[in-house]
Amino acid sequence: METERFLSRLAEDFRISLPDLRGLIGHFHREMARGLAGEESSLKMIPAFVGRPTGKEKGDFLALDLGGTNLRVLAVGLNGNGNASADAVERFVIPPALMSGAGQKLFDFMADCVKIFGQNHAISARRFQDIAFTFSFPVEQLAIASGRLNGWTKGFTATGVVGCDVVRLLCNALERKDLGFIHVAALTNDTVGTLAAGSYADPACDMGVILGTGTNACYPEKIPRIHKISELAPAGDEMIINMEWGNFDKVAGNRYDQLLDDASSNPGRQRFEKMVSGMYIGELARIILVEMMAQGHLFQGAKSLAFAEAYSLTAKQMALTARGGDFFADFGLADCSAADSKIAGEICRIVSRRSARLAAAAIAAVVSWRDAALDGRHVIAGDGSLLEKYPGFQEAMQEALRELYGEQAARIIIQPVHDGSGIGAAIIAAVAGSGQAK
Ligand code: GLC
Repeated sequence: METERFLSRLAEDFRISLPDLRGLIGHFHREMARGLAGEESSLKMIPAFVGRPTGKEKGDFLALDLGGTNLRVLAVGLNGNGNASADAVERFVIPPALMSGAGQKLFDFMADCVKIFGQNHAISARRFQDIAFTFSFPVEQLAIASGRLNGWTKGFTATGVVGCDVVRLLCNALERKDLGFIHVAALTNDTVGTLAAGSYADPACDMGVILGTGTNACYPEKIPRIHKISELAPAGDEMIINMEWGNFDKVAGNRYDQLLDDASSNPGRQRFEKMVSGMYIGELARIILVEMMAQGHLFQGAKSLAFAEAYSLTAKQMALTARGGDFFADFGLADCSAADSKIAGEICRIVSRRSARLAAAAIAAVVSWRDAALDGRHVIAGDGSLLEKYPGFQEAMQEALRELYGEQAARIIIQPVHDGSGIGAAIIAAVAGSGQAK
């Protein structure tokens, strides 16, 4: 009975009601307006200096995609017919030590991976000339191929990078590895790459969303509405805006959100990301498990050190519970009872459902910002492990959209674009090369 009471209180703490969803959309709109005007806002609304592709861009490019957990190197071919393909892809796990050490080592690692990729695949010298760089952190873009890191997110703390031009740092590393002949043709955020990949294939695509280790989105904005740059840019046209919505701070968190934030490497920042993204939902579930264990709700009252380490429970492990399994064996607790399994499942359901509903509210905010009456069809290009791999996540998002818009919710189509962030960077490089970049 006590345990049931705990779980129903937990469900209440994590509940996002329909009025909450509506309230969030309003807060998003206000923060978006302030960010676009260059006023104080938790949404940075960073201009990407590029618009959407037409689908006619052509060429062969290398793409280097630094996400939160992996580094990908891709050889991308664009056929000018809306068809972009990754002819070769290699994934390298970012060694955790590099996330927090000297920044130069992180960039040397990237250059090494490019070298290894070149050796493993028969990449023509031609294709090796231009590289598109996806750097999935808040970067104040200065031009299409240069931008300064505002601050790290997703647990990275590498030194000597914040405030610097990350393209310069990459070029220096490439030079150190005798790859100085490679030219960085474009710098993009992963959301911008994903939108580019989606809209290269489908002109109805008007938003890019990442729901993976971190979370963020971008969309094409009319230049006159971007007040902070309207004097510099030509009128009437559109430019993609990287929202950096992970930093949105107008959602009231609960006790667990506070505990997570206080112990994080960037307290007070990325509050929305800390409620939604893959890196953090496992940590929220872990904090809850530890509390339940301390209160004797698990393992027949026995205590265990199994969940003591911060960030030891991942979203991937949480996903097991959605398929009827559990993750206890991974923590050396093989003989847990069915009741323990059920509790773990319930915790994961509560935390992941709030994540999906918050993500849906944020998507609804952007769609309704562009089209208040939801007159048109909106295709949202999405990438990231939560979206692609967490069972029931997309369904929970769709359910929230239906609560908001009824049948009209069918006009919001979430389209997973695998490897979109890397492929799209190559497309952005082609757009830049064709002179469409601002
Ligand atoms: C973090 C980064 C952002 C990125 C997102 C998804 O929020 O700050 O730039 O797009 O993660 O990877």
